[in-house]
Amino acid sequence: MTALYQSDLSDLELLGRGKVRDIYAVDDEHLLIVTTDRLSAFDVVFPQPIPGKGEVLTRVSNFWFGRTEPLIPNQLTDIPLESVVPDAEERRRLGDRAIVVKRLQPLPVEAIVRGYLIGSGWKDYQKSGSVCGIPLPRGLQLADRLPEPIFTPSTKAEQGEHDVNVTFDAVADRIGAGLAEQVRQVSLRIYREAAEYALGRGIIIADTKFEFGLDREGRLHLIDEVLTPDSSRFWPADQYRPGISPPSFDKQFVRDYVESIGWNKRPPAPELPQEIIDRTAEKYREAERRLTGNH
Ligand SMILES: Nc1ncnc2c1ncn2[C@@H]1O[C@H](COP(=O)(O)OP(=O)(O)O)[C@@H](O)[C@H]1O
Ligand SMILES: [Mg+2]
Repeated sequence: MTALYQSDLSDLELLGRGKVRDIYAVDDEHLLIVTTDRLSAFDVVFPQPIPGKGEVLTRVSNFWFGRTEPLIPNQLTDIPLESVVPDAEERRRLGDRAIVVKRLQPLPVEAIVRGYLIGSGWKDYQKSGSVCGIPLPRGLQLADRLPEPIFTPSTKAEQGEHDVNVTFDAVADRIGAGLAEQVRQVSLRIYREAAEYALGRGIIIADTKFEFGLDREGRLHLIDEVLTPDSSRFWPADQYRPGISPPSFDKQFVRDYVESIGWNKRPPAPELPQEIIDRTAEKYREAERRLTGNH
């Protein structure tokens, strides 16, 4: 499998490169999103690609865009790649990584939903007994399932910065109470349905992050990526036990490796041994297989 670390499309204007995605302008109404094989962990991008990862992320997102369509409109269009990238060789290099999407106005919030107590949620809870201002029962353990999934938004950070957890009221101040409420409701609903589906396929979705955008009429759309191993914590259900930090589905090998060499989690990220790259690529493929039944 060929890897794509960075795309360089000749005919389209590059608007920017995120940690993982290269974004091109198609016209005023559309973008081309190229999901590369870049890997980021601890908000730092690694120097080597994970072959096929971008294709997995694209196909998994498309799968969920399809399933959530009855709940909320999304960024997908049926504009074929051929019409935007006419060069067959360039298209071949992109593989399944590129899609033409509606160009929407992203909301300045990361819509995080947590079903389990882990990560920054666990840290918040230990300090304050609540997460993002939402009080939780006493005595919960690390990785415990929450009585109800909770909406714990964060602000989108500038490049190189970490996102900051905020209260629902802070989101309401920023984008308006009505829109904030709509984002909360639909995020919780998508999470509930997806988590139930994934559990039936042996994956716990511990938490996830959605992004939303508005069209010209102010209609809310689901954008970016949806319920992928990058935007979510996936745990293998058969290894789940409260009290211990469950192995993450996809990045565990990378995390364990960088711990073992004592990396300080600040840029630059270290080179990864080939074996870690191979096993990580296989984990992404396994997540796709389990969730979608394909590849
Ligand atoms: N349909 C869309 N319309 C406008 N912007 C979008 C759309 N989908 C995704 N984006 C933006 O494109 C970027 C995706 O690149 P990514 O590599 O995921 O960035 P990041 O490093 O911020 O996670 C994000 O800033 C996201 O908000
Ligand atoms: Mg992103």
